[in-house]
Amino acid sequence: MKTLLGLVASPRKYGNSELFIKELFGNLPNGWRLRMLRLPELDIRPCMACYQCLFGPMRCVQRDDLDLFLQELTAADAVALAAPTYFLGANASLKKVLDRGLSFYAHMDALWAKPAVGVAIAGVPGLEGYTKLMVDSFLKLILSDHRGSQVLYGALPGEIFLQDEAKECARRLASALTQGPEEAASPRCPLCGGDTFRFLPPKEDTPAGSQRIRCMVCSNEGTIRWDDGSLQVDTRRGLHPLFLTYDDAKAHLEWLRTMKDAFLAKRKELKEVTQAYAAVGQWVRPEKKQREERS
Ligand SMILES: Cc1cc2nc3c(=O)[nH]c(=O)nc-3n(C[C@H](O)[C@H](O)[C@H](O)COP(=O)(O)O)c2cc1C
Repeated sequence: MKTLLGLVASPRKYGNSELFIKELFGNLPNGWRLRMLRLPELDIRPCMACYQCLFGPMRCVQRDDLDLFLQELTAADAVALAAPTYFLGANASLKKVLDRGLSFYAHMDALWAKPAVGVAIAGVPGLEGYTKLMVDSFLKLILSDHRGSQVLYGALPGEIFLQDEAKECARRLASALTQGPEEAASPRCPLCGGDTFRFLPPKEDTPAGSQRIRCMVCSNEGTIRWDDGSLQVDTRRGLHPLFLTYDDAKAHLEWLRTMKDAFLAKRKELKEVTQAYAAVGQWVRPEKKQREERS
């Protein structure tokens, strides 16, 4: 029996995100079971930027539901994510998990290249903002094999299924999980498949007629240009590829670890910089925080 882990980023019971995951599961062949995590239900605390999870036993110092999340994620054979749009981005439950992502490196071997798909759900056509980008980034940063993602529209619980597109999407993404990614219908980053780009000012070597860009999923730079009526995206590996290959991900972990020695080497210099700002301004603090500090 194989396990699909459904990650539902909506707090809404029987909301579009939950229903989509269940519909997608219904399109998988026999031999799969569905386990689901509703992300807003998890107690996931903010990352404290202590970097302890990168060293020694590689475990976050915080005891919360990240362990449960990682346990389910590592045990799954495939992942499907559905995230609702809140104010032009995926809701915070997704980012809360992602912010603890340095802890994923401890499980790199178990996580690497799990088939994964996702949907970004928005209530108003065209108002999805950067939700799909967040879904794509999340799937890449959990080190999965991102097989496809799409934006779906529907505001009321179940409304996405009042049109055929969402059922068709569930069929396609279920098939992508078991059969491999489908051909992209629109221009993509050739390195990672991302479809969100930032336009950058040209450099001296930017060819005439090309626009310099950066892929917002893999962060690599390149160009975009018209070629015989179609848009051609060309991106090249930069200095810090995060997740393009297993070795890249390992190398990024090693680079992160070197930051500890870099910090120790520059500690005196950095202290001088930070101390110059120590007495500037007045912090407004919640009462609870003040009480904690007094006790
Ligand atoms: C706080 C909040 C903010 C929202 N912001 C947006 C938005 O920026 N753009 C949009 O298209 N829909 C927005 N919506 C609508 C939801 O994305 C939509 O209802 C979606 O179907 C919710 O998914 P769910 O049913 O899985 O909870 C918002 C909903 C809430 C509750």
